Amino acid sequence: MAFGTGTSLRQKNAQNPVENAIANGFTHIDGAQMYENEESLGVAIRASGTPRSALFVTTKLDRLRPDQTAKTALQVSLKKLGLEYVDLYLVHVPGHHAGRLKEVWKMMEECKRERLAKSIGVSNFEVAHLQEILEGAEFPPSVNQIEIHPYVWKSLQPVMALHKEHGIITSSYGGLSPLFRAPGGPLDPVIEKIRIRLESTRGQPVSISQVLNKWLQQYGILVVTTSSKAGRMREYLDTPKVPELTAEEIQSIENAGAQRYHKFLVLSD
Ligand SMILES: NC(=O)c1ccc[n+]([C@@H]2O[C@H](COP(=O)([O-])OP(=O)(O)OC[C@H]3O[C@@H](n4cnc5c(N)ncnc54)[C@H](OP(=O)(O)O)[C@@H]3O)[C@@H](O)[C@H]2O)c1
Repeated sequence: MAFGTGTSLRQKNAQNPVENAIANGFTHIDGAQMYENEESLGVAIRASGTPRSALFVTTKLDRLRPDQTAKTALQVSLKKLGLEYVDLYLVHVPGHHAGRLKEVWKMMEECKRERLAKSIGVSNFEVAHLQEILEGAEFPPSVNQIEIHPYVWKSLQPVMALHKEHGIITSSYGGLSPLFRAPGGPLDPVIEKIRIRLESTRGQPVSISQVLNKWLQQYGILVVTTSSKAGRMREYLDTPKVPELTAEEIQSIENAGAQRYHKFLVLSD
């Protein structure tokens, strides 16, 4: 599970939240050039006192200016972060590179060859975008980070099938959106019923966030989330200890999700 520095932290100083996240057990920090807070993420990493090798740091390529390449943009990020490499470098939004995705992916591959990024991947890519870069790629993307929750689950099946075929790790953001960005939908009673069952099986508190994050993790999805509160950070990280959802519970979540299509975090091209 990764701690994100976008959404509520975008264009804000992320030092305290990231330091707090690391102190509470997060090791994977999800950043991006577009969030305009990489310096504060770097400050938090140094202040945490955690060895670099124990952390996993992601950043993402923003739009390219005419004089930039993915490598020169990454070098700027590395300077801001105070790091020699990132663990994962993602193309943030395919629409930012319309008509030149293949060329941009070649630039990403250069970053991996030169070990400025240990792994390279993409974000917000749909089937056609993935197909475009997979053709002739030296390195296929290792990750595609996309908005995932039950209100988009059905629509994501083609892209998830392509991930499976090419060994691309599925990563989610916005996973808690149905619960906190649009409460009152058809999913809510289903999640609450499962929460009560899990809490009684566990004999310890289980939250509605944990139910949705558990659903994602049971699919092997790398969850990217965030919180301003230490208690919630610990609650997120406690999700692996929550008992497994049954096949019927998983189906009930997906059936309820299929009743509504709602994408919350629409990124402009
Ligand atoms: N690649 C992309 O294009 C892209 C797009 C969007 C996001 N992301 C990444 O994903 C990260 C997480 O995104 P997200 O914010 O959408 O994650 P999320 O997991 O859907 O939601 C996290 C938010 O839920 C709130 N929350 C959790 N439990 C709650 C509760 N019981 N009651 C009320 N609110 C509650 C948290 O607020 P509190 O602070 O109050 O806990 C937090 O702001 C971002 O920071 C970013 O790194 C990537």
